[in-house]
Amino acid sequence: MIRAAVSTPYLRACLNTTRQTTKRFAMSNNPVRTFVAEATIPKLKDSSLFRHAAYVNSEWITSDKTFSVYDPATGKEIGKLPEMGGEDTTKAIQAASEAFKSWSQTTGKQRHDLLKKWYDLTMANTEDLATILTWENGKTYAEAKGEIAYGASFFEWFAEEAVRSYGNVIPSHIPSQRFITIKQPVGVVGVITPWNFPNAMITRKVGAALAAGCTVVIKPGAETPYSALALCELAERAGIPKGVINVVTTHEKVAEVGKELCTNPIVKKISFTGSTGVGKMLMAQSSGTMKKISMELGGNAPFIVFDDADVDAAVEGVLACKFRGTGQTCVCANRIYVQKGIYALFASKLAEKVGKFRVGHGFNADTTHGPLINDKAVEKVKRHIDDAVSKGGELLVGGKHVGGNFIEPAVVANMTQEMAIAGEETFGPVAGLFEFSTEEEVLEYANKTEFGLASYFYSRDIGRIWRVAEKLEAGMVGANSPILSSCYTPFGGIKESGVGREGSMYGMDDYLNIKYINMGGI
Ligand code: SIN
Repeated sequence: MIRAAVSTPYLRACLNTTRQTTKRFAMSNNPVRTFVAEATIPKLKDSSLFRHAAYVNSEWITSDKTFSVYDPATGKEIGKLPEMGGEDTTKAIQAASEAFKSWSQTTGKQRHDLLKKWYDLTMANTEDLATILTWENGKTYAEAKGEIAYGASFFEWFAEEAVRSYGNVIPSHIPSQRFITIKQPVGVVGVITPWNFPNAMITRKVGAALAAGCTVVIKPGAETPYSALALCELAERAGIPKGVINVVTTHEKVAEVGKELCTNPIVKKISFTGSTGVGKMLMAQSSGTMKKISMELGGNAPFIVFDDADVDAAVEGVLACKFRGTGQTCVCANRIYVQKGIYALFASKLAEKVGKFRVGHGFNADTTHGPLINDKAVEKVKRHIDDAVSKGGELLVGGKHVGGNFIEPAVVANMTQEMAIAGEETFGPVAGLFEFSTEEEVLEYANKTEFGLASYFYSRDIGRIWRVAEKLEAGMVGANSPILSSCYTPFGGIKESGVGREGSMYGMDDYLNIKYINMGGI
């Protein structure tokens, strides 16, 4: 069942990590639980992709004031980048505004050609881009390569969409008048992206923005800015003109940079991926100049396994969905509800597989799961495990903090609604199992959250599949399918999980204004 769903390189990478793990340890009854945090960092084939400077108006900007970027697996410094503030951001906005004058006048075909070149260069440099990504983010090299392909797919998709931004002719009710609509780029876009997908969260937004004819100022995650800068180097090689793409790097002054992007009247739209708390703040700041907004925010995804499900497929589904990126994606399953009749079987099968995972540096070949991003993330995961255990949760496997930012992937059984995981997104490798009796009961639990990003369930009953898919309050539902992400399909949430859709045939809409033209005197 899962095999039939493998339709994208990214999905394949997610599932392959799981399959390799299962295969590798299938012969061993005594899984190795030690881990290796150190690794030899592969040498880049093209070291000019590793830029130690911000990028504004096609200039590489350095500064005396810098912040450090660290390898989350070892804590060692990777490099230093300029600590930029509000004034630097204003300059980047002005550069993007100047560039907008000519970029917005290019044809869809011209933008298609440049995005397609950017796609080709990204794919051709996959290994180096994945090396940079693993180094600064910690995810395994296999997953990083999957992310580069996933990220690049947005350039290809939106290159193809650039030539299809059609308007309409509206039948007229007045004989002497004709009505048409055309679509025009909104203008300069502020793009604020997270550390968990240092490449793909940029390409998903910037691909759409550039295809529409907008220019951008990007503020990448402070933990993972090098992936953004490598993309700029390739954009320049692709021939994307000066000022169309700008990257402001910052760590300490992130609030100042964010505020300038949200309040400067030149910026016409903010596209943000990150926490709901920060999203609300950016939305409030953007309201003063009535900007368009796209917000892809937090989740608290339920993953429901009904008695009639294919249990092995559901276990594989949890492995891929819950533990992808070491549990650090906003669409990771957070609450796993398993129906009474199969609960014990499911729990033991899942614990057995999770016990075979191996944490370590993302560059080590036998690592299945990398570190968490930082000590704050470790503290949250520990708090969630301790809270569950103190309230009667049973730790079936893992959960040990083995050093640095490494926590063994864990399965906790006997979860209840009183535990922190029921209400908060863990953003880490903890699968909490809740037992339920009826469909009605589980739907109530699943929807009892202010979030509504992703939901998953496994069942072989076609009636139930329709019913549950319709009733789950989420922007995306995986029915017997653990990975939802692709450039072809709309990504986004409802409730406090966000506003707008990214990727797909809808992804460019948020970067376009519809203009209605009424032609009289015909
Ligand atoms: C996210 O975690 O923010 C995005 C996940 C995805 O694109 O699959």
